[in-house]
Amino acid sequence: MIYLDHASTTPLSEGVKKAMSEAMANFGNPSSLHQAGRQVKSGVESARRELALSLGCEPAELFFTSGATESLNMALDAALDESKKTRVYCSAMEHHAVLDRVRHLSENGRIDWIQIANDAQGRLDTSFIEETEKGDVVVMMAHNNELGTANPIDQMAQWALDKNLVFICDAVQTASWQPIDLQTWKGVQGLALSAHKFNGPKGAGVLFWRSTRRLRAVFHGGAQERSLRPGTENVIGISGLRRAWKELHEEADARRDRLHALRKELEDRFEKGGPIQPTVPYRSGDHPGIVNVTVPFEGKTSMLLFRLDMAGICISEGSACSSGSSSGSHVIRALGVDRSGTASLRISFSHLTRAEELQNALDTLEAVIAG
Ligand SMILES: Cc1ncc(COP(=O)(O)O)c(C=O)c1O
Repeated sequence: MIYLDHASTTPLSEGVKKAMSEAMANFGNPSSLHQAGRQVKSGVESARRELALSLGCEPAELFFTSGATESLNMALDAALDESKKTRVYCSAMEHHAVLDRVRHLSENGRIDWIQIANDAQGRLDTSFIEETEKGDVVVMMAHNNELGTANPIDQMAQWALDKNLVFICDAVQTASWQPIDLQTWKGVQGLALSAHKFNGPKGAGVLFWRSTRRLRAVFHGGAQERSLRPGTENVIGISGLRRAWKELHEEADARRDRLHALRKELEDRFEKGGPIQPTVPYRSGDHPGIVNVTVPFEGKTSMLLFRLDMAGICISEGSACSSGSSSGSHVIRALGVDRSGTASLRISFSHLTRAEELQNALDTLEAVIAG
């Protein structure tokens, strides 16, 4: 099998498996006051401190959640103004974790959703910033999970500070290859991370929420996570997340170099021509491990993916969360280009991918579309 769907999820590293199996042996409830509980609690708090140190925030500003979907939903709820309809700016290319919540809030009259425009290459039109006012909310992903395109987060964080906006950043795809520094991104109010995108476990995420603004409890229960995200902590998941984060930072430079080298080989291949071409051009700062390609193909993209799967190649059309939807990728649709007679596929790889795997997959794709 050739696995080229790392933007969807990544394999657990051996170190993460070991950390998680050790955590399984310590079964205490972190809220218990006895030693079995205290020992587990200390692991959870060490994870929070380590993460805070590397992100450049306070441990009290980090909340462990079930993943980025939950983190983003919590952030959006907390960003709303209770006394009036809030204006929320976000593009149609955000992940469903954001889009579906925004749509829901909009349908319920809680917000005015103002769409940030984008061009045919997936780049955002930032002129919307001129019309924003104090208290408006902006949600922007740092890297698009289907195209790999980078959004202007440095600039956005500065605008948020200058204009008193509530800026929520979905950094899910960014964490796997770029350091995140919340000291630099002072204007970021909330930020979401997900462990399974950087070789950690599924069901373990983080919400950063700057302490200058109140976070609201989405549901009610115990005193865990300062009563804002109650329920007994996913201690095994948190221990895997902690280990994955440590490995990510220890190997950051090597992983990034590897991704750039793999991407260079791909770009060289595209430049030579042939039926497989990038859907949008690659620019400096884009995620090197995510490439969306367009190929000539009549028929359903799912059929193409099925044939690739039969040939042992795992790639996807886009976000795993919308697979099964018959309308195709909302991100590709948002590019507004007529793509009849073609199919667009997302190939995503990591430091674990071998160059031959990428080339073999592309050779197979060429053979499949040639019929
Ligand atoms: C950009 C982006 N945001 C949010 C999510 C949701 O993350 P999770 O699976 O942790 O809920 C994903 C997962 O695919 C993603 O790629």
